[in-house]
Amino acid sequence: KKVVLAYSGGLDTSVIVKWLQETYNCEVVTFTADIGQGEEVAPARAKAEKLGVKEIYIEDLREEFARDYVFPMFRANTIYEGEYLLGTSIARPLIAKRLIEIANETGADAISHGATGKGNDQVRFELGAYALKPGVKVIAPWREWDLTSREKLMAYCEQHEIPVDFSSGKKKSPYSMDANLLHISYEGGILEDPWAEAEEDMWRWSVSPETAPDQPTYVELTFEKGDIVAIDGTAMKAHEVLEHLNKVGGDNGIGRLDIVENRYVGMKSRGCYETPGGTIMLRAHRAIESLTLDREEAHLKDELMPKYAEVIYNGYWWSPERRMLQAAIDETQKNVSGVVRMKLYKGNAIPVGRKSEQSLFDESIATFEDDAGAYDQKDAEGFIKLNALRLRIAAGKGRLQD
Ligand code: ARG
Ligand code: SIN
Repeated sequence: KKVVLAYSGGLDTSVIVKWLQETYNCEVVTFTADIGQGEEVAPARAKAEKLGVKEIYIEDLREEFARDYVFPMFRANTIYEGEYLLGTSIARPLIAKRLIEIANETGADAISHGATGKGNDQVRFELGAYALKPGVKVIAPWREWDLTSREKLMAYCEQHEIPVDFSSGKKKSPYSMDANLLHISYEGGILEDPWAEAEEDMWRWSVSPETAPDQPTYVELTFEKGDIVAIDGTAMKAHEVLEHLNKVGGDNGIGRLDIVENRYVGMKSRGCYETPGGTIMLRAHRAIESLTLDREEAHLKDELMPKYAEVIYNGYWWSPERRMLQAAIDETQKNVSGVVRMKLYKGNAIPVGRKSEQSLFDESIATFEDDAGAYDQKDAEGFIKLNALRLRIAAGKGRLQD
């Protein structure tokens, strides 16, 4: 009996290690990944050892996360319910994949995670796990145990001699948080009242737009086939792009979001998010697409986007429909190359210039000045008349009046 646990090194997942060992009398393998959450992962080793764990996996997955998950998602300009940039949703498929790979390497037959039974994360971890290893067993302690309050959890720690400094240092945040290279999220605490405004000191990654610099910051983003490959002329890896844009975005108050969203399990949930780099990438990507994509291709892609967002939000990254949508989206990106100049100013990420060798923009056609015969205005007359034909017929039957 062996189980691979997604282990943060924090108090909750440390309790889970002990609980799994006790309840299932099994060997626990821990897996801790750096996906840019901004917390040291190295201490997870000593903590896991203290809990009697023998097989400990600690990995830096920042580049894989940015390159193979975040960037492909941004090719579609993906947003859930018009607002959410899916920062947590997009990290789960990678964690699920590594859990299963480690299970296969270590001969484990089960995986476990620290997500509650009320949220989206449990769904994402487990759909991913079943998709990649159909016979896997899943243990979700939060759905089983009776450690339903902070007090019971602390009592359990005392009984089992789990050091309380396993709670990730500092003073305990009043929020349920999740962070990676794409975003940091806050839920719970006073946010459970949708009318209550978040306190200013909740936000960790960005200054408020009010206190952001009075001078704008400009950045030039180079795209190749839909992905950013350089900033201000300096080539960067995917995770470096996100790190850099998070910094300049946060410094300019960009990427704060406060929403009520629909969880897959059926409830509404209020959450606050900071996605500085992602917010800049989204605007910039739309700007380069505006030059390089055909109209119908762009519009059809936009129609598919909400479906693609829902697929990712609901945890179906490892599904036939996601693969199908990804193939279509990636096909559209072949000519999405060029440079976008962005102005960052007090919470706004504004495209102010764009250029591309693959541009479909034709100044000689679009000009308000003399176009020297590039476009024959008389053609428009027939175009409009034929398009009006069915309207005129319907109007003749009196159908178009109120
Ligand atoms: N509501 C967001 C989502 O479903 C964020 C979830 C945050 N998860 C967490 N374990 N704190 O994607
Ligand atoms: C959780 O319930 O573990 C976090 C929130 C979510 O998954 O939606």
